[in-house]
Amino acid sequence: MSGGQRSTLLAALLVLGACQGPQSAFVPAGVEAERVLGLWWTMAAGAVVIYVLVIGAAVYATRIAPERHPGFPGVAFIIGGGVALPVVVLAALLSYSFVLGRDLTRDLGPEARRIEVVGKQWWWEVRYLDPAGGAPVVAANELRLPVGEPVELLLTATDVIHSFWLPSIAGKRDMIPGKVNRLVLEAAVPGVYRGQCAEYCGGPHALMAFYAIAAPPEDFAAWLEREAAPAPPPADPFLAQGRELFLASGCGACHTVRGTPAAGELGPDLTHLGSRLSLAAGILPNNVGTIAGWIADTRHLKPGNKMPPFNTFTGVELRALAAWLASLE
Ligand code: CUA
Repeated sequence: MSGGQRSTLLAALLVLGACQGPQSAFVPAGVEAERVLGLWWTMAAGAVVIYVLVIGAAVYATRIAPERHPGFPGVAFIIGGGVALPVVVLAALLSYSFVLGRDLTRDLGPEARRIEVVGKQWWWEVRYLDPAGGAPVVAANELRLPVGEPVELLLTATDVIHSFWLPSIAGKRDMIPGKVNRLVLEAAVPGVYRGQCAEYCGGPHALMAFYAIAAPPEDFAAWLEREAAPAPPPADPFLAQGRELFLASGCGACHTVRGTPAAGELGPDLTHLGSRLSLAAGILPNNVGTIAGWIADTRHLKPGNKMPPFNTFTGVELRALAAWLASLE
């Protein structure tokens, strides 16, 4: 195998490898993602067939020279292959994508489960609406989904345009300030998937990700019940010190922790921070160490993000604060 062939093979393997994993439209784990992939394969197959026909016609014209064949139906060939065929094929593909697009944004009716996802610079607010009209359960940077149940996502933004993209489960839709876009999705396989903001939204756009956790409906219901509960006061004195530091240091101006006086709305709700898989919108694993590092030096970890660093705590204070936040499960 020559060097060139080896490079081509390596590139192909890398591309195929990149098509796997928890964030891939090629490994669908949702009903809508499966349909989007079907559309993609149909379009790709259509493109290949048309490409082969066009190249075939070009070769025929240059090599076989139809003018030497007096019976060749030139005008019919041009009208058939150059006008009729593209009109029919493109109209069919357009109708297919139009019908699918409408299906992905359909209204599931008043009884449906609805989740509002609000894009913000540079994180996601996630609000699980109560079909009975009660208060929503507010979370952030993680989306929980019941497997086998269609869910309506109501997507919007409060600052600039973002784009919600969870390729393993569904398609992609813009999040536009002042407008609510609907996206229907149904997780088919339990698991952890990754989503990403897909519209450049300034500064750390590339660090605006989230995890989606699809679980059986009974697990989802149990999780939602826990998530709706306020944070209980800690019995452990070290954790209680962390809670006091949180409240005394002004963290509550931006963050809410239900069950405490902290009720800020500028940053993510932290009531159940400890139960999340990731920190800072999908960029760090979530544990006491990363929480402490994040508080002390947020803008080193995520340049440009809006939370200022709090580097005035002593080591013990920082550990107490991070331990309390990590204990909020
Ligand atoms: Cu939000 Cu890009």
